[in-house]
Amino acid sequence: MPREGRNPILVAIDTPDLDRAKALSQSLAGVVGGIKLGLEFFNAHGPAGVAEVAGGRGDLFLDLKYHDIPNTVAGAVRAAAKLQPMFLNVHAAGGPAMMRAALEAAGEESARLGVPRPQVIAVTVLTSMDDGDLTAVGQQGPAAEQVVRLARLTQGCGLDGVVCSPLEIAAIRAACGPDFTLIVPGIRPAGATVGDQKRVMTPREAVDAGADWLVIGRPITGAPDPAAAARDIVRDLA
Ligand code: C5P
Repeated sequence: MPREGRNPILVAIDTPDLDRAKALSQSLAGVVGGIKLGLEFFNAHGPAGVAEVAGGRGDLFLDLKYHDIPNTVAGAVRAAAKLQPMFLNVHAAGGPAMMRAALEAAGEESARLGVPRPQVIAVTVLTSMDDGDLTAVGQQGPAAEQVVRLARLTQGCGLDGVVCSPLEIAAIRAACGPDFTLIVPGIRPAGATVGDQKRVMTPREAVDAGADWLVIGRPITGAPDPAAAARDIVRDLA
């Protein structure tokens, strides 16, 4: 188990089906460290659906990756804070003013509501983008350098951490130190189907490399018994 002995698994519930999302969330309560709901679910069911699936549990990663002008992102974060997520996220490429506005809005709104402030996390470079994609959008230089540049910028803006691929953990830890939250998808238990993920680590490898949280979707949600699959992973980490 990583730091503080807590369960580091955030299960990605990627479905537009409300009943399936609720069933997964209920069967995994207490077995994982949290659930991640993203754009697919949110655009199907909105905040009311999120509240139905995650309501009151305090372990939600609301993965909506905001990227807009600071005023708009601040408004989105204030609205999202009502769902009391443990984490919400923005694109670091939105820039320092946008990231600071997100953090400030999260702080103000959660204080107003009397709830804990969500950790505000940034996405650096989408792992679906390679060096060629970055060049196509006018970004010269290797993706690996841009990831570390944006992680440092994120930290400099006071945000809590970044989402990163397993292979980026070491470089970001080295650049940003031990107290910067690293949330890591691209996790596959030994022997699991890799699917469309290209660069994967096992849960154990990712935690040993310095991950704080592991985002795991299909290896749990696609298993015949999701709770049993999650328990197996927790046992491997113990
Ligand atoms: O099913 P799987 O374990 O591949 O799900 C991983 C989750 O993490 C999905 O919700 C995916 O969108 C998300 N994610 C990712 N890679 C990133 C960022 C997010 O796989 N770089």
